[in-house]
Amino acid sequence: MRRRVVAANWKMNHLAQDALRFGQTVSASSAFWGELDVLVFPPATLLMLLQRILSGTGVGVGGQRCHPAASGAFTGEISAPMLKDAGCTHVLAGHSERRRLFGETDQDVADQLRAAFDAGLIPLLCIGETEQERLSGRMEDVLDEQLDVVANLSSDESADLLVAYEPVWAIGTGRTATPEQAGEAHAFIRTRLAVRLGRDVAQGTRVLYGGSVTSATFPSLLAQHDVDGGLVGGASLNAQSFLDLVSQARK
Ligand code: PGA
Repeated sequence: MRRRVVAANWKMNHLAQDALRFGQTVSASSAFWGELDVLVFPPATLLMLLQRILSGTGVGVGGQRCHPAASGAFTGEISAPMLKDAGCTHVLAGHSERRRLFGETDQDVADQLRAAFDAGLIPLLCIGETEQERLSGRMEDVLDEQLDVVANLSSDESADLLVAYEPVWAIGTGRTATPEQAGEAHAFIRTRLAVRLGRDVAQGTRVLYGGSVTSATFPSLLAQHDVDGGLVGGASLNAQSFLDLVSQARK
């Protein structure tokens, strides 16, 4: 049985007072979650604050990306050891907004995975096809290519890796994938992970769905065998709507 994960991706949203309010509300209910991993990926400015408020609750805090180098002359960048030092347990890699708006390539994503594991962070690898790729029948090829970045992971690293299937056309659009679409893509991802990492590892890999998740759509997505949780943007900004998703994910 794979333990579910509910993860909040705040993107470039929220100030300290919002993080404080969110952290306090979430802390107050965290004792009742049981077998569930809950993660929050705030902007870098809020990492230490949120980590402090949530410490002792079991909620993990992560960076939204890391630079592949540990340190150096890279103005504006943040490294994986710095995220670790700020109290992070996780880091996102390959979010479609990073790929699309900032030109990150699969090679960049592979380098980030390496940097994350070397720093003792667990990466959450995001993959997904655009609408055009889906309509032209290329979805599987695209997902398969994006999964190539796991090729150089050790077996321990592979076992820790988290994956999110986030169809680009569903992110921030209100067009959640149907449970069938998500179920199919997740099953495909698991099959392709098995080819690269072995069947046992792939059976244990948590694959989250992301793209316009709300409390109206989450339960039917979670009902799919290969959907192990959610990576949530818009609906994670408000503590109460995020907590609704957390309680839906509790088994
Ligand atoms: P959304 O974002 O829930 O707002 O669609 C998800 C994501 O980009 O991770």
